[in-house]
Amino acid sequence: MRFKDKVVIITGGNSGIGKAAAILFAQEGAKLMIADLAPDMAADLTTSISSPIAYVQVDVSKLSDVEKMIEYTISHFGGIDILVNSAGVLGPRVRTEKYAEEDFDKIIDVNVKGLWYCMKVALRYFAEQRRGNIVNIASVAGHLGMVGHIAYAASKHAVVGMTKTAAIEFAKHGIRINAVCPGFTQTPMLEGAEADQAYLEALQYATPMKRFGKPEEIASAILYLAADDSSFITGQSLIVDGGLILQ
Ligand SMILES: NC(=O)c1ccc[n+]([C@@H]2O[C@H](COP(=O)([O-])OP(=O)(O)OC[C@H]3O[C@@H](n4cnc5c(N)ncnc54)[C@H](O)[C@@H]3O)[C@@H](O)[C@H]2O)c1
Repeated sequence: MRFKDKVVIITGGNSGIGKAAAILFAQEGAKLMIADLAPDMAADLTTSISSPIAYVQVDVSKLSDVEKMIEYTISHFGGIDILVNSAGVLGPRVRTEKYAEEDFDKIIDVNVKGLWYCMKVALRYFAEQRRGNIVNIASVAGHLGMVGHIAYAASKHAVVGMTKTAAIEFAKHGIRINAVCPGFTQTPMLEGAEADQAYLEALQYATPMKRFGKPEEIASAILYLAADDSSFITGQSLIVDGGLILQ
């Protein structure tokens, strides 16, 4: 029970990697605040988790929503121990010269500004209590180019850079901030964006393990970075990708 009575906020917690992390945190005793765009919590979360769990509708790209998310969590659970930033969007697969400005802006607003807003507001609170832990979900696209995804690659390189910067700023306060960089992972993001079966097969073939990651495999890396098991690690980007980045 590494997280007994710890309060964990998970943005993007209604789906995919965020949802898998919620289930693992709950199994280890955490109290969960799921924060996502939809009006209500995903039905399977309410049925599969028996520990304390609450939901807040939030658009992370709006600072006022993020402030409400933090205030609501403190009033509901009495504090916050861990923030997992999993909310993110992929955008269309279009080559750079044809990429639409509104798509570019949307991805930067959610993946970069939204994640920064969540860190900004949580860190005010963490700095006061001199304790806290943040795990940001970046991507292998935070280390590699990704054909057809100029804005996504820019946004995930930004997440890696923001993670390093905030980690240095807050290390002396006992607050650790790390990132997990998943490779191709079987979630609605991957399934929805790439309906083209041949493309999906090529992505699996490109991965040395010849398969997609499971959301639980990414979630267990998130829990490692959020736990005391990693107590001397900060500012790192842990790549969990079946060997994709090695080639
Ligand atoms: N699936 C992959 O292959 C993969 C690979 C690398 C990185 N990632 C990253 O992992 C994270 C989780 O992705 P996933 O695969 O679980 O996708 P997903 O689509 O299953 O889940 C993303 C969740 O984020 C929420 N969300 C989107 N925009 C939001 C906003 N503005 N405010 C609040 N919530 C918002 C969605 O509603 C959704 O519930 C993302 O940051 C993604 O970029 C995914």
